[in-house]
Amino acid sequence: MHGATEAILLVGGKGTRLRPVTVHTPKPMVPAAGVPFLTHQLARARAAGIEHIVLATSYLAEVFEPHFGDGSSLGLHLEYVTEDEPLGTGGAIRNVAPLLRSDPSDPVLIFNGDILTGLDIPALVATHESSSADVSLHLTQVEDPRAYGLVPTDSTGRVTAFLEKPQTPEEIVTDQINAGAYVFRRSVIDTIPTGRPVSVERETFPDLLASGAHLQGMVDSTYWLDLGTPQAFVRGSADLVLGRAPSPAVPGRCGDRLVLPTARVAPDAKLTGGTVVGEGATVGAGARIEGSTILSGAVIEPGATITDSLVGADSVIGARTILAGAVIGDGARVGADNELRAGARVWCNAVLPDACVRFSSDQ
Ligand code: GDD
Ligand code: MG
Repeated sequence: MHGATEAILLVGGKGTRLRPVTVHTPKPMVPAAGVPFLTHQLARARAAGIEHIVLATSYLAEVFEPHFGDGSSLGLHLEYVTEDEPLGTGGAIRNVAPLLRSDPSDPVLIFNGDILTGLDIPALVATHESSSADVSLHLTQVEDPRAYGLVPTDSTGRVTAFLEKPQTPEEIVTDQINAGAYVFRRSVIDTIPTGRPVSVERETFPDLLASGAHLQGMVDSTYWLDLGTPQAFVRGSADLVLGRAPSPAVPGRCGDRLVLPTARVAPDAKLTGGTVVGEGATVGAGARIEGSTILSGAVIEPGATITDSLVGADSVIGARTILAGAVIGDGARVGADNELRAGARVWCNAVLPDACVRFSSDQ
């Protein structure tokens, strides 16, 4: 058989990296470029020939199915599996194996749910098939690999080690990291132990290497972003709008801005850098918004200046307020004439009075 037709999408875990985001929705469902983030991954997989995807989840599973249903609106057949307790990445993969229909020798695509990438999925599958690997991994190069899985390879691309989140400088042997997309030969999935948590990064990959299995790396330096922080999320959404991150699911043409149909933007407001204005949101006169995501129903009052920020659903940003690198939770009210910069986060439904925070010096 050529190509892959099935995939597993990992969208569970303890969610520790989700909690600091002050928007209510779990991150995979927060709109990026106007649609729930997961839509981009699903649409890219579909465009690469995947027909059946199992979502492996362990938290808030009930939000995925009501939205995506059986997947037919995306031309997919979607199924959902919820773990009682998080089973880890490997445990989650093994747990959904009974739903796969692939033959033992068939390739199955597996991907982390928090990655935005332009990965050439058919090329990864082709690499897998031409190298007769047991598992093939998409690798990307980053400046600081410490927060990732390090994957050194030999001159043929064969993986020589897998070092998840290296702790010592000696362990930093490469700038190639696991980009969170794999092709597994189906029979390899069936060898993962059942009934207990398993980390594919800390257990399955090292064990496979120790037993002489063939893990093949494919370095693809296409667009890649881990959306683990709200700042990265905002960046990713803007890059989708700008067309830097390719996705068939961006509603409308790529460009400097994306204004959803029911949003209202004053004629002299300036929207740039991949800014998204969500459904029913309002942008007042003279506001300037750059590289930011304004979620549905938010109100941006006249003269506000917003850069690289996430503005939660139904929140209000007061007149002349400045946001730069800020995250405003759903339903929060930031009064007029405030200034919030550099990672400031306002909790959901919190209220900041007028003129109470600023960063600039006395004038
Ligand atoms: N179903 C399920 N159950 N999914 C899980 C579980 C679980 O118990 N634990 C984690 N996941 C999912 C997460 O939702 C995410 O989509 C993916 O597996 C990876 O988990 P993260 O918690 O986001 O891991 P990470 O970002 O620290 O590291 C991973 O991604 C890096 C690239 O961004 C690793 O795979 C690294 O090796 C990799 O470099
Ligand atoms: Mg992650």
